[in-house]
Amino acid sequence: MGSVIDSSTSLLARHTHDIVRFAMGAPSDDLMPVELLDRFAANPVPGKYTYGSTEGEPDFVDQILKLQAEHGHASAPDRVTVTTGGMQGLDLACKLFVDPGDLVIVEGPTYTNGNATALSYGAQLLEAPLDENGLVVEVLPELVARGGRTPKAIYTIPNFQNPSGVTLSLARREQLLELAAQWGAMIIDDDPYGLLRFENSPIPSLNEIDPGNPRIFSVRTLSKILAPGLRVGWVDADPSLHPLLINAKQAMDTCTSVPAQRTVTDFLAGGHLQPHLDRVLSLYCERKNAMRVALDRHFGDAVRATDPDGGFFLWVAFADAQVDTAALFEPALAEGVAYIPGPAFSTNGNFHDALRLCFATSTPERIDEGVARLKAAVDKSGAQR
Ligand SMILES: Cc1ncc(COP(=O)(O)O)c(C=O)c1O
Repeated sequence: MGSVIDSSTSLLARHTHDIVRFAMGAPSDDLMPVELLDRFAANPVPGKYTYGSTEGEPDFVDQILKLQAEHGHASAPDRVTVTTGGMQGLDLACKLFVDPGDLVIVEGPTYTNGNATALSYGAQLLEAPLDENGLVVEVLPELVARGGRTPKAIYTIPNFQNPSGVTLSLARREQLLELAAQWGAMIIDDDPYGLLRFENSPIPSLNEIDPGNPRIFSVRTLSKILAPGLRVGWVDADPSLHPLLINAKQAMDTCTSVPAQRTVTDFLAGGHLQPHLDRVLSLYCERKNAMRVALDRHFGDAVRATDPDGGFFLWVAFADAQVDTAALFEPALAEGVAYIPGPAFSTNGNFHDALRLCFATSTPERIDEGVARLKAAVDKSGAQR
């Protein structure tokens, strides 16, 4: 697991020529509010460098509650546990709900480290298909019936999914809640990109559709919204889980970095989030459109690309199923463009003829150049299976 991304990253590091970077899913320096974060990081706060409380700094929890309330989810302090990024939220979810041999439904394709975390707790993954409206919830009953047992958890990334960019429709969200209730399964609702919507209207979150539903375990992070190096996120879950989460986190890292929580608290309390989002979202929108135009111009009907309303990623599937995007990776790097091959997002080796492109971090001109280089790599390499 993760080896395709790992080897892609080390291959990338070995190249010193100009490369258009569509691989990484992280905001570049110019897309992070670096000056403000530096300024707030320098604020003197008594006790800033000692251990903090495991559940999170109270002022930071207040800011999280305010942020969630502004986006339609009225939560409470005993529902929130601050985490060291979204990854720790996923780890906590699996630690609490996944025992060796348990069945976990995942989206195919999905976030590599989501799969890796569930596997590290001994989960058996059932990869369910996605379409332009997200996880194809309608097929889950049949998939589960065929497998002969019900899932312990369903892992979904409902907004601007990583890697596909698609968003789960309202009808499917409702249906998913019904199925989870029927099966007694937890829904691990991983939503790092939800606030990064640049087109169309928000769809109510699972928590907004069914407030207080104890089966919803929400994993959140500020990595994509502010800066991944802060390592600040949280989970929002039923209050009965709060003591378990605190115990589990205590044994992992005692507390999330107090200086990082203080810095983000001051950033949020100062009202800086919305102006920051306004700036980056207009850039992301322009870049997404530039990437779709470039794909159309350079590839035409040879590829099919998703059309995300937010987030960072667009998923490209080749019409020619013989294209092998893992084999294409090195020739593409030599040509000067990097992406993540499709099989990185599946534990079954699926999606050999697809790839993920991050549109968020390159200018429209670089995006056009990068897509042109990708086309040149495909034409030259004959990277076929
Ligand atoms: C869907 C998804 N979940 C979780 C994470 C992890 O977030 P963090 O970097 O805050 O640990 C990522 C980061 O790429 C992601 O895309």
